[in-house]
Amino acid sequence: MHWWQTGIIYQIYPRSFQDSNADGVGDLKGIIGRLDYLKSLHIDAIWLSPIFPSPMRDFGYDVADYCDIHPLFGTLADFDRLVAETHDRDLKIILDLVPNHTSDEHPWFVESRSSRDNPKRDYYLWRDPAPGDGPPETRLPNNWQTHFGGDAWTYDAHTGQFYMHQFHSSQPELNYRHPEVLPAMLDNMRFWLDRGVDGFRVDVIWLMLKDEQFRDEPPNPHAGPDARPFDRIDHIYTASVEGIHDIVRQMRAVLDEYDERMMVGEIYLPVEQLVTYYGDSDECHMPFNFQLILLPWEARAIGDYIRQYEAALPPGGWPNWVLGNHDQHRIATRVSQAQARVAQMLLLTLRGTPTCYYGDEIGMEDVPIPFEQCMDPAALQQPDLFEVWGRDPERTPMQWDDSPHAGFAAPEATPWLPLAADYGARNVAAQDGDPASMLNFYRALTALRRAEPALNRGAIEVIDVGVDDVLAYRRTWPGRDGFLIALNLGGRSMGINLRAVAQTSDMEIAISTTTTPNKLVDAGTLALDGNEGLVIRLLA
Ligand code: NOJ
Repeated sequence: MHWWQTGIIYQIYPRSFQDSNADGVGDLKGIIGRLDYLKSLHIDAIWLSPIFPSPMRDFGYDVADYCDIHPLFGTLADFDRLVAETHDRDLKIILDLVPNHTSDEHPWFVESRSSRDNPKRDYYLWRDPAPGDGPPETRLPNNWQTHFGGDAWTYDAHTGQFYMHQFHSSQPELNYRHPEVLPAMLDNMRFWLDRGVDGFRVDVIWLMLKDEQFRDEPPNPHAGPDARPFDRIDHIYTASVEGIHDIVRQMRAVLDEYDERMMVGEIYLPVEQLVTYYGDSDECHMPFNFQLILLPWEARAIGDYIRQYEAALPPGGWPNWVLGNHDQHRIATRVSQAQARVAQMLLLTLRGTPTCYYGDEIGMEDVPIPFEQCMDPAALQQPDLFEVWGRDPERTPMQWDDSPHAGFAAPEATPWLPLAADYGARNVAAQDGDPASMLNFYRALTALRRAEPALNRGAIEVIDVGVDDVLAYRRTWPGRDGFLIALNLGGRSMGINLRAVAQTSDMEIAISTTTTPNKLVDAGTLALDGNEGLVIRLLA
């Protein structure tokens, strides 16, 4: 087994983790200072959202130089120290690679837009205005839309053509049909692999190739009347376009030049398409499985999906699960604080690599941010929808203690986003010393996962307990204790029959979401309180 299979990945949003120089933005030295905390979580790898030079229009997902560190975060020397200190603690470090687009300040784009015959012109996707009357800037090349709202084409008056972007207009998309572009990006990967990074999370990997003929996308037959323009079309010419798997394979081949490196791809696709990105064990080590974010929080829906996903995995395809990230509302807000522990118990006991989002281990919630204080370009471009699409609420500073700015930044600093109102009570320091805290509950789960082969590599079987709201599954490994996980995703007490699973005398409660768990077990029946989850050891 590889480290990225048995281990736990922890996502850090560097701007919000720890500021060391009072500029209100987190940085690499801040992360170094928190490595011992990370180690205490029994996680195995940290993934850093982008830390490269960038005008920060999309907070680093607009890269102006793939081979350096943004001064806000520090220097290459700081980065080398971070790698060394991370490895000293037997942790891995994964960087965010953003190959689909650059910043419009990247030298390639500066050159590309300078003239139509610049050698880098076709590094990007340039198109003439469509034929017709009217000013050229109104004659869009086709109907493609951006994920952030608005047309996917921006007119450049200097050369009289449009360039293509599926995100912000400052994120022009690279042309992977140009023979020099992929080799250049692969070299960017080698730059960091040579510096010791253990892998990449690859941004929007399934979008990297676009239709060669730039055809209009057809209407989406499933779009409701209120759908955004982006959702009203079916993205058959901008997503998972034929040829994409060849690009992914070439990226994977670079990782395979090194020992024990990995790549996890950001891919929002239905499961049967998602799993094609494993390739023949020659594409992504893991395509991110986001269904715990997208599915309704219902026992049957999740149980059915676990079975469906497991069945869809190709031979050698290792599963993975995600509850939250910097693009999604926080899990404790989505499913309620009452369910936050149940959610972590689910994530940390499923079969496959869990990716945790910073702050979820203390139950951090979305921080309401009024439109006037919005920073996120996706929200600013869609003012009517900013509560749905705005991503600032889940990106607020980590809550370390009850001092000013929650210990995230020095008192004189102004944090780049506001702190949660509840940070005085909900913070690492307060929870650290409290055996009943969410933080120590999380640590108990991660420690158990690490210690038990049934949990970190064993088989999974979803058990139909025939009770609404309860999701149950068993984890097993030959010759070792197994585990039964029973999660009440609702607020009402439920009794489940355990006879089908094991003899009650052979069981003991390993971890509960409550400090006073229901006692096992009366005549084979387990009573679960509302919002209660249990990990039950099945003695070997
Ligand atoms: C996905 C990233 O997770 C998101 O934060 C970003 O805005 C887009 N890709 C564009 O890079």
